[in-house]
Amino acid sequence: MKGKFITIEGPDGAGKTTQVRKISDYLKSKGFNVLVTREPGGTALGEKLREVLLTSEGESPVPEAEALIYAASRAQLVKKVIEPALDDGFIILCDRFVDSSLAYQGWARGLGIEKLADINGWFLKGVWPDLTIVLDIDPAQSLKRISGKKDRLESEALEFHRKVREGFLKLSEIYPDRIKVVDASQSPHEIFKTILFELKKSGIITL
Ligand code: TMP
Repeated sequence: MKGKFITIEGPDGAGKTTQVRKISDYLKSKGFNVLVTREPGGTALGEKLREVLLTSEGESPVPEAEALIYAASRAQLVKKVIEPALDDGFIILCDRFVDSSLAYQGWARGLGIEKLADINGWFLKGVWPDLTIVLDIDPAQSLKRISGKKDRLESEALEFHRKVREGFLKLSEIYPDRIKVVDASQSPHEIFKTILFELKKSGIITL
């Protein structure tokens, strides 16, 4: 696999999508082939599963079912999109990936980080990110940024979102070489500068 795989993570409202766009614009301007995708979603099936996962209508999945539906979307994305793009030498930027399952379902829902790493490890094999940026922010602050109707996960209590944040910080201790925590209470420009520094430090880009 010749490409590189970068994931952007963090609690809801942390500003991931803005940063993914900034990183993508930057890398493209430097001549890299960049593929941007997201989770849940990124494939036709994944986008249908996203609707199932995020709707506030009807019956909510139990935590175990929730974990497996996220994993199903991920397996489809890995086999259909990520593996082929890595083989073609792309830099892949993914808005959320496996660490969201470890933080949300493994830690915040209480299913266990190891259990989720096991389930996902079954089909991820070698396709773990080369670099993961966690945008870290107090959810009391980040949730205020969400405009419009909140989805099923965004509507969870503040306590749940605090656990998610705690989960991501725990993950950065478990995987210190791969996961870099960036203070997301800064301005989008400052956040981007810090991410760029991490990208260079990791050796993914040498510009
Ligand atoms: P997004 O709106 O940031 O794209 O993410 C969708 C929601 O799904 C967000 O609340 C985080 C949650 N999520 C999980 O709980 N587990 C996962 O594995 C993923 C990828 C997302």
